[in-house]
Amino acid sequence: MKKYIFCPAIVGAFLSLVSCMTNEKLDRISVKQFGVLDDGRSVQVYTLKNSTGSSIDILDLGGIITAINVPDREGHLADIALGFDNAKQYLTDSPYMGALVGRYANRIARGKFSLDGNDYTLAINNIGNALHGGIVGFDKKIWQSTARTTDDAAMLTLTLLSSDGDEGYPGALTATVTYTFDDQNRLTIAYHATTDKATVINLTNHSYFNLNGHNAGSILDHVMMIKAGTYTPVDETLIPTGEMAPVNGTVFDFESPKPIGRDIGAGEQQIQFGLGYDHNWVLEKSAPNDFELAATVYSPKSGRMINLYTDQPGLQFYTGNFLDGTVAGKENANYQKRGAFCLETQHFPDSPNHPNFPTTVLRPGETYETTTVFEFGVIDRD
Ligand code: GLA
Repeated sequence: MKKYIFCPAIVGAFLSLVSCMTNEKLDRISVKQFGVLDDGRSVQVYTLKNSTGSSIDILDLGGIITAINVPDREGHLADIALGFDNAKQYLTDSPYMGALVGRYANRIARGKFSLDGNDYTLAINNIGNALHGGIVGFDKKIWQSTARTTDDAAMLTLTLLSSDGDEGYPGALTATVTYTFDDQNRLTIAYHATTDKATVINLTNHSYFNLNGHNAGSILDHVMMIKAGTYTPVDETLIPTGEMAPVNGTVFDFESPKPIGRDIGAGEQQIQFGLGYDHNWVLEKSAPNDFELAATVYSPKSGRMINLYTDQPGLQFYTGNFLDGTVAGKENANYQKRGAFCLETQHFPDSPNHPNFPTTVLRPGETYETTTVFEFGVIDRD
């Protein structure tokens, strides 16, 4: 009679070979139809998964992140990104949830700017100003998509051609954004663009996060740090005054970590203009354009944490002030004011009209390149 000897090392090696053949090539990224728009266009959703079991769902529509499943301090996964179940809602109901925003994220005053002696007029879509790229911004377009995997990451590259005159912006622009999700639970967003005529550009991602789960109520208990000694105050339509004001001694001081809710109700005029935090912090850098830690935020309850890194000069920290429970979110969620926060890495709002702000001009022959990383982790009880 034959004798079988159980050898864990050989079995282990066999299993890891199988998992190598299946996981690395097949499981890190998958694609399926997410929905169909009214005009018949099909929307695909890519799921980028890593070896820890975390995953991120991204649409070819608007490069929209529809779900981010990451563990809490006990290892339990939850979806921490607000969103919709239905593709059409991203066109009709969405306050830019999860989306790539362009050609110019944030506001341009009265939708007007001049460049090289030419005056340009943009689509107006926010109390007299141009916001987030216009009426049909980059968030509402279907991007060309290509997926691939490496040994430790899944990558999705999205490309969009924005024609000369699109929403009033000059120059035919080619934008390419690569999302990379790796085994360290880091989501890297690499932006790249070129133009055939001088234009302005400011791209970001507009994910709404709640580190207790996308439908877990208020984020006012989350603890935030922003590495910024100044911010850009705004007028009542949220256009910067041009000033860079110190945060020291104000409600805008997040240099040491503090709960988001600590000062939000202080009745400060800037907070009244924004209905909460909806401002641009001027990130402190060792040198301009250095890629550095910009902010950290954690939930004392779940222990989930985000470390945010960027080479961008500014960060729009927005506390979901316009969420009002009127749109039906994923799994019938009812997203309320302060139910999420956004960390929009960016150039300063209305830069084309403020020569003292870092330039957002892109010329033919130049390449716009910028990188932001969301690192999802956990902290122990504080
Ligand atoms: C940005 C803006 C906010 C608001 C949201 C979308 O964060 O700064 O004022 O428009 O987008 O609702």
